[in-house]
Amino acid sequence: MDATHYYNPNGEDILDEKIYGGSPSGFVDFNRSKYRWDSNIYDLMNANTWFPSEVNTSAESKNFSALSDNEQSIYKLTFAQLSFNDSAQEEYLSDFRRLANNRLVKSVLSLQIMQEVNHSKSYAVLLDAAGNSEEVFNLYKYDQALNRKNQRIAEQFARYIDGGSAEKMLLSSMASINLEGIYFLLGFSYIYLLGDKVPGARDMIKFIARDELNTHMPLFGNIFKTIHKENQISAATIDECYNMIRDAVDIELEYGNYLLDSFPIMGTTPELMERTVHNYANNRLKTIGLDPIFEETPETYLQQLVTKHLNMNEVRSNFFESNVSNYAKSSIDLDDF
Ligand SMILES: [Fe+2]
Ligand SMILES: [Fe+2]
Repeated sequence: MDATHYYNPNGEDILDEKIYGGSPSGFVDFNRSKYRWDSNIYDLMNANTWFPSEVNTSAESKNFSALSDNEQSIYKLTFAQLSFNDSAQEEYLSDFRRLANNRLVKSVLSLQIMQEVNHSKSYAVLLDAAGNSEEVFNLYKYDQALNRKNQRIAEQFARYIDGGSAEKMLLSSMASINLEGIYFLLGFSYIYLLGDKVPGARDMIKFIARDELNTHMPLFGNIFKTIHKENQISAATIDECYNMIRDAVDIELEYGNYLLDSFPIMGTTPELMERTVHNYANNRLKTIGLDPIFEETPETYLQQLVTKHLNMNEVRSNFFESNVSNYAKSSIDLDDF
């Protein structure tokens, strides 16, 4: 690595640093932000800082044991998949960060990396309390549908991460929008459907969902829109963005239908899942300035469950009470740049 990568006195002023391409001077100055949304999201992420120990998991083993066999399977296969998402996202973010030029955007990505690790830690704490940590973390070895979803997500992550052009960086950011905005969502709603039966799991998911949906999604929404605005992006590349989200919908519904077919315990149907995932996908497309391409239906029950739990004040806490109730509830305006 060249020393100018770390210190480049002849590099660009921080206010001139684009997300893709260029030569930064090497300074992180939060008082001079080219985009504004980057430092706003950083502050909101910091305000939202939480620790797995804030969630009361003392009854998780007893509560898990009281679930029906099907509910236990849903619980295990949901956490097995969600925990993969966070593990993969940490690694992806470290790779994606290397494609970025603007030092403040890179700083926000650094904080996101920390939060994804925190999510991984929270799964470990929760599943240890439930008494099934090793079993759940090893399920990918035995469950073909889980293995396939993980594999398909990994392939989408890997496809453009080597970068080399603004278009490849844009497509790579699309993979993250799919992760933050699609691949978690049915899993979140399954845990909310179990709800009061497993309050430890539910409350842990509330914290994680808030990070993913209130800050990580807006961060990548802004990154996508900014790369799109700052560079010449071909129609073929935008077509590929649509292909990627079509794939994401297929990945999410394939695993959702597998769970529903195998363990039909929930108040859900294939049609409800499809409408839910299509609505989320349309929402993500609109968020990044593209056109919705799926059939739009009124907000579904599963979406309402996820939205309802974004209200943090409901979370019970065994300690750090004030920290939890002070959790920042605002979200970031995606057009804030
Ligand atoms: Fe996460
Ligand atoms: Fe995330």
